[in-house]
Amino acid sequence: MCGIVGYVGYRDALGVVVDALRRMEYRGYDSAGVAILDGASEIAVERKAGRLANLEAELAEAGVANFAGTTGMGHTRWATHGAPTDRNAHPHRDTTGAVAVVHNGIIENFAPLRHELESAGVELRSDTDTEVAVHLVSRAYTSGPTAGDFVASALSVLRRLEGAFTLVFTHAEHPGTIVAARRSTPLVVGVGKGEMFIASDVTAFIEYTRDAVELGQDQVVVITADGYAVTDFDGNSGVPTRPFTIDWDLAAAEKGGHDYFMLKEIEEQPAGVAETLIGHFDNGRIVLDEQRLADQELREFDKVFVVACGSSYHAGLLAKYAIEHWTRLPVEVELASEFRYRDPVLDRSTLVVAISQSGETADTLEAVRHAKEQKARVLAICNTNGAQIPRESDAVLYTRTGPEIGVASTKAFLTQITANYLVGLALAQARGTKYPDEVAGEFAQLEAMPELVARVLETAPQVREIARRFARASTVLFLGRHVGYPVALEGALKLKELAYMHAEGFAGGELKHGPIALIEDGLPVIVVMPSPKGRAVLHSKLLSNIREIQARGARTIVIAEEGDDTVRPFADHLIEIPAAPTLFQPLLSTVPLQIFAAEVAQTRGYDIDKPRNLAKSVTVE
Ligand code: F6R
Repeated sequence: MCGIVGYVGYRDALGVVVDALRRMEYRGYDSAGVAILDGASEIAVERKAGRLANLEAELAEAGVANFAGTTGMGHTRWATHGAPTDRNAHPHRDTTGAVAVVHNGIIENFAPLRHELESAGVELRSDTDTEVAVHLVSRAYTSGPTAGDFVASALSVLRRLEGAFTLVFTHAEHPGTIVAARRSTPLVVGVGKGEMFIASDVTAFIEYTRDAVELGQDQVVVITADGYAVTDFDGNSGVPTRPFTIDWDLAAAEKGGHDYFMLKEIEEQPAGVAETLIGHFDNGRIVLDEQRLADQELREFDKVFVVACGSSYHAGLLAKYAIEHWTRLPVEVELASEFRYRDPVLDRSTLVVAISQSGETADTLEAVRHAKEQKARVLAICNTNGAQIPRESDAVLYTRTGPEIGVASTKAFLTQITANYLVGLALAQARGTKYPDEVAGEFAQLEAMPELVARVLETAPQVREIARRFARASTVLFLGRHVGYPVALEGALKLKELAYMHAEGFAGGELKHGPIALIEDGLPVIVVMPSPKGRAVLHSKLLSNIREIQARGARTIVIAEEGDDTVRPFADHLIEIPAAPTLFQPLLSTVPLQIFAAEVAQTRGYDIDKPRNLAKSVTVE
């Protein structure tokens, strides 16, 4: 979390930086700030708690003319150390005002460093871990072996820091230079003509350049208007970086005519599912994106763990149904935050599937590292090209749905489910648990899903109308069985995080073991029905559950397959979705739940792109 940007070139840096912050605000919105260099002895800094709009108002009041310059950097914060206040907002400056820093991540050894600075008489002015870095660079520049050398001063400090961080430094005496470093958190370089950028993600600069370079772990980049140089923390050049061309366009990162990114992203789901499948069936075989695992290894796994957080975890629960059914391999699904702390039994014949939209989630990253330490092999499902989780994994499957800006996962979730199926089919193919024509058949059915997802989107007006009726309810329950159960959990999570309502998902069979006590007159319950043809037993069991809750006064909103007339008498509201193979139904049944949550939240007056207390990428545990 936290979005950072740096610019050196010929344009008005303030404009470039503020625009970039606007696009990266989804990364955190506890405060925003800018630093602009124009050759003066002090760096001009403005920073403000709250949304970017607060900073813009502050800049307007201070007079933008005071922020003229062609070098600058900016920060949008998701608070970790220190409350989301003005004084803790980035950039932070040293006591002379000549050095400034912005930071994403955590400096774990900040306490002894702070003590060292305070003992030397430095007065720190924030509660952040970040501020120590700027004073240390200032002191290294003022005296000692690196005196007068900005880059060497920054390197000497970076070598002392522990934790996960992207740090960006500027120095008033070097107005055309920015020094940036990364350890575990993201940093990309945008390569322009006569201008250079650094940022947490490419949306910050795609308006200006498509040429980008991804930095590796523990690397430092120095940018000037004319170019960039990458070294390790010891200043050695020749370290490996990954140049790439950005294939997202600017429109993909903007709202495309919708009031909210989330609504646009819900509509992008058919395309996302289709894109995620493209190129993965070649010459009669399923292929992954980056496979550094031999087919022999895929054959020899005797167990699969799926690790993820939040919605990605719900996608992981669905992976279990497909992988076990197709491969007969036992699959355990774990919250990444629990996984490594309970000492799971892992070895080289274990496959760990790590699912993460951002590829940055700290818990999932640490789960991956733990798995690798135990010699397990890791396959990442990720939406962010080159993020840390795929980099550290043995194989990668990208969900190709473009940047997801809305904080709540929507298109990422659907494409993660799609990617799970590809992983299941790749394993089944390698292990021979499905014949090649069966793999081809499943893939063909998957290819038909985007069109069906598009048909579900047509139910949006009906779903919104139902949502408005229940927008003032205090609790909404979600029920499902089999693959409908993780969908119920996901529907409840969407409602919680967007509408701040009490919502819970249950497996239909569990109802009588406790949750049925919650049912009272008028309580809305959303039920995800299995296909009457695909899973007839489950269908009739869930039908009985609906009867039970309706008899106790629940208002039932039922999502059922078109033509499923048996459910009609028990549905106060019926949302029909097209028939689909049992395992693939979640790609359809999830969509009305997303629309429902978004509409309830909007009716209650909430910003669905930026739910309170949340950030898009959670890079702290
Ligand atoms: C919920 C949501 C979160 C994320 C979770 C994992 O709508 O978006 O629960 O799914 O924080 O994030 P990634 O997938 O980036 O690891």
